[in-house]
Amino acid sequence: MKKGKFISCMAITAAVILSATLLALAAQQPPETITIKPSIWKTFTKPLVTFSHKKHVTEDKIACNQCHMIMKDGKNVWKEGDPVEKCEKCHNEPTTQMEYKLTPEQKKLNLKLSFHNLCITCHRKVKNQHPTVNAPIVCAGCHKPAAAK
Ligand code: HEC
Ligand code: HEC
Ligand code: HEC
Ligand code: HEC
Repeated sequence: MKKGKFISCMAITAAVILSATLLALAAQQPPETITIKPSIWKTFTKPLVTFSHKKHVTEDKIACNQCHMIMKDGKNVWKEGDPVEKCEKCHNEPTTQMEYKLTPEQKKLNLKLSFHNLCITCHRKVKNQHPTVNAPIVCAGCHKPAAAK
């Protein structure tokens, strides 16, 4: 192969690798704010919850794997670059009323409890340490009526 041809080959290979990397990174970029509306629920009894990656990730520097997970032998092995799945992909037990009646196994996979356990447990810890921080633990702090947003 002539030198010129070899170099352009290298350049193309480099460009392909670079764009593949950029695509993978773009797929990982968390949306700034999202309205969480799981598709396994057909009706909602509370106003939908808005969640801000900007606040949690960019400002408060909370690591992705505090919330996103791939469980192996009871451990969260999610690491940077792994796909981010919606919670309902795994937590697909849909009960939203009287979920306290479910078995312990069902509770772990119950979607409503999974959200509440993740979000409210951390907010409680935060409030214990910094009582004035806006990390809501009351219903209306997360389930804000549209008019209050
Ligand atoms: C404090 C919790 C929390 C942290 C930290 C967090 N996320 Fe999220 N993220 C969520 C929640 C909740 C959703 C919505 C999941 C759902 O709809 O089931 C979400 C959704 C996403 C989505 C969209 C998934 C989809 O299919 O709609 C991507 C991509 C994402 N996060 C990437 C990231 C990355 C990358 C990081 C770290 C830089 C990160 N997140 C940190 C809670 C968090
Ligand atoms: C790839 C599958 C998967 C995804 C996606 C996933 N989880 Fe989990 N999650 C699990 C498994 C499996 C467990 C462990 C259950 C056990 O202990 O047997 C778990 C455990 C938990 C627990 C601790 C057990 C409990 O209910 O107290 C919480 C809280 C939780 N997940 C919330 C979430 C939230 C919120 C999301 C979305 C941001 C999410 N999970 C995404 C599979 C997943
Ligand atoms: C690991 C800890 C942690 C987890 C998990 C977490 N949060 Fe937070 N959250 C915080 C902290 C810290 C703040 C205070 C933000 C600030 O003022 O800088 C906060 C603030 C908020 C606020 C008020 C600020 C705003 O964005 O309007 C809302 C709403 C909120 N969180 C929703 C959620 C929801 C919904 C979830 C679960 C999907 C969640 N959080 C999970 C730590 C957490
Ligand atoms: C830290 C945030 C947070 C707090 C506080 C919170 N929730 Fe939620 N809740 C969520 C998230 C996130 C979801 C799932 C996404 C959605 O429904 O938009 C959810 C879902 C629900 C659902 C199932 C969906 C529906 O609308 O029927 C019910 C019911 C619910 N919450 C009731 C409550 C009640 C009652 C309280 C107060 C005792 C409360 N929540 C406090 C974050 C919170």
